[in-house]
Amino acid sequence: MGVVRNLRQVDADAAGVDVAFRADVHAGFGQTPKAIPARWFYDTTGSALFEDITALPEYYPTRSETDLLTRHARDLAAAIGAGRAVVELGSGSSTKTPLLLDAIAPAAYVPVDISGEFLRDSARALAARFAGLPVYPVEADFTQRVDMPREIADLPKLGFFPGSTIGNMVARTAVDLLRNWREALGEGSLLLIGIDRIKDERVLELAYDDPAGVTAAFNLNLLERINRELGGDIPVENFTHRAIWNDVFARIEMHLVAACDMDFVVDGRRYEMTAGETIHSENSHKYGARDANLLLRASGWTPVASWDDTDPAFALILAKATAFRSAP
Ligand code: AVJ
Repeated sequence: MGVVRNLRQVDADAAGVDVAFRADVHAGFGQTPKAIPARWFYDTTGSALFEDITALPEYYPTRSETDLLTRHARDLAAAIGAGRAVVELGSGSSTKTPLLLDAIAPAAYVPVDISGEFLRDSARALAARFAGLPVYPVEADFTQRVDMPREIADLPKLGFFPGSTIGNMVARTAVDLLRNWREALGEGSLLLIGIDRIKDERVLELAYDDPAGVTAAFNLNLLERINRELGGDIPVENFTHRAIWNDVFARIEMHLVAACDMDFVVDGRRYEMTAGETIHSENSHKYGARDANLLLRASGWTPVASWDDTDPAFALILAKATAFRSAP
């Protein structure tokens, strides 16, 4: 059947710029300390740089998760069962998806991604590789409310949220998102989620500050993107990349550090920075086993199984949207 239709749920202005991007940049530059949501990394250049990151020897999450999906394909199939509509949150280039689809014999595949270009390419590739599998791509920001294609309304569902993308969200936002997806997928649905574990902070810091400088380029591209899409004149050469472990919040933080005092204009609005001031550009939260279970339970998802045996540690957790029941 192949790709049937593309459901677009992203608002762009006359210049083709996502209206939420413009709003987030001004809101983030207007506060102290400055911060921009990490989801804006992924323009075409940023998405390509992230693909490069996943191939770095220091960046273990992709390899660890791919390992788990490969080695535990049978167990996953037994726990999930055939005939589900797989809804993938933030599918990107969907490199891990074939491993899952191969394992579980799904009834449909619904990739949800904010980057329309990536989405269409990977949806087409998957439809070609899995003949007979209906693919219904949805171009949307999965952190917002997303309407499911009506074609999968009556199918049992599996949410697939790989890559530890949930780590980008602070606890409150993560719970909001997981609760929204519980609503969108419905009671009885399953969720297979990739979660990065807490580990030696040197391992973590190297994974987010690689010697080849790919992560630095990925971080700095956010400023280039602002200049490109929002007519900014940010002096990108005056910024450096920083990745640090914050133990209280159990997260890696990425910042863009101003090397000198400066001012710049974005969209006609002027902003000032002093030397050493930073723009906080990403959080990547890490979870112990019980932390992750608590996060899921707080969101209405009951953990039912997990696969956790990789080095460096990473977890795939299967959870179920069970009925709410009164409890002591
Ligand atoms: C795509 C959010 C999972 O946090 O590890 C990689 C993004 N940032 N290197 C992560 C990222 C810097 C990545 N996620």
